[in-house]
Amino acid sequence: MEMLIQGKIKLSGEVEISSSKNAVLPIIAATILTDEKVVLHKVPHIKDVNTICQIVGKLGKEIQEEDHQLIFTGIIQNLTPPYELVRQMRASFLLMGPLLSRYGKVRLSLPGGCAIGNRPIDLHLKGFAAMGADIKFSGGDVIAKANKLIGNHVYLDYPSVGATENIIMAAALAEGTTWIENAALEPEIVDLANFINKMGGKISGAGTNVIKIQGVDNLSGTEYTPIPDRIEAGTYLIAVAATAGEAVINNVIPEHLKSITAKLEESGAVIEEDKRALKIKREGKIKPVYIKTLPYPGFPTDMQAQIMAYLSFAAGTSIISESVFENRFMHVQELLRMGADIKTEGKSAIIRGVKELTGARVKASDLRAGAALIIAGLSAQGKTIVTENEHIERGYEDIDKKLNQMGANIYLN
Ligand code: UD1
Repeated sequence: MEMLIQGKIKLSGEVEISSSKNAVLPIIAATILTDEKVVLHKVPHIKDVNTICQIVGKLGKEIQEEDHQLIFTGIIQNLTPPYELVRQMRASFLLMGPLLSRYGKVRLSLPGGCAIGNRPIDLHLKGFAAMGADIKFSGGDVIAKANKLIGNHVYLDYPSVGATENIIMAAALAEGTTWIENAALEPEIVDLANFINKMGGKISGAGTNVIKIQGVDNLSGTEYTPIPDRIEAGTYLIAVAATAGEAVINNVIPEHLKSITAKLEESGAVIEEDKRALKIKREGKIKPVYIKTLPYPGFPTDMQAQIMAYLSFAAGTSIISESVFENRFMHVQELLRMGADIKTEGKSAIIRGVKELTGARVKASDLRAGAALIIAGLSAQGKTIVTENEHIERGYEDIDKKLNQMGANIYLN
């Protein structure tokens, strides 16, 4: 599919943010921790959710979908998630923790996902091994076994989001207490812990760098609504600022967006905060800024491509340093096709603001790179065609419709 975008239209009005993709995915993996009924409300209709539901379904869960509600029932019968689905999404590795802790055995293909560099899983495995699991590799699969996982201290060399989540899920039903030290602080981790606690888990300290998980014998069914998607919200904030528009972004937790709103304000945007909404307006020139991506509460790597598209027509030179992932500058090549002046040197990009971008045919190489190209297309002179936009559908619910409601002129082909 291709997305056709007419540029130079100021966005206005309002937009409603969906629930967080990165909160929903581990929460769906955590439904394996119980045989009882789990109801998730406000689940976004996106491809990644569909993929993890298909995997959990192949393992034996029954999933009913009603509008934006998912109901999980049934028990797991298969401990080998299918390769053809697992390879589509790195987050499928999040099934290892819950499968291992509940069933003592799991075989999982090494994960796929966005093409954004080398993304090892050593920290996940180090955590499982510290809890007594025996880990082996065979034919591209990881095989983990443990009669019973035993709580322990797990120190993460890096505060990996996925490793923190996987170890929390493994520890939730382990014998004794687990401490994750140098844990990731992301709000999605707090959401996962809140969900498991609602099932009867005993997790404290989520959102700090030491998380304590007291293993319980079993977890029960529950109902839960995941947090709003801070990356989706950030993407719309930048889209509005990029088009010199004025709009309200609804269903946000402003606290989760501090690093993004701070940079947008530094660039000249005016942002007003409400309890669950952010109003943004930008007039005049975009001031260049310096950004370094970092784990939360630093500036998110998942917003790096979008803000680069915005800064590519700032009045001056900006620098973006990517410190979380290697090789996450695939959007640069495409922005150059639209007239941007960007040079990358190792982990840094030097962005010399040009007067304006020009519409072009560009390729979405991954989810956030695709979002960046939409932002570039919305602000460019003329028409932009974003190809391979199925990457964008992995994580943005109805992005074309939501932008069109704000006055954009986008259609899918
Ligand atoms: C999650 C998010 C992703 C986001 C990323 C960083 C989900 C589903 N995905 O991905 O959108 O971009 O956090 O905010 O929530 N690393 C290791 N060994 C490991 C694990 C990670 O070296 O075992 C490295 C990675 O290669 C990377 C860094 O740690 O350089 C961060 O990765 P991590 O925080 O684990 O990201 P994900 O959980 O994969």
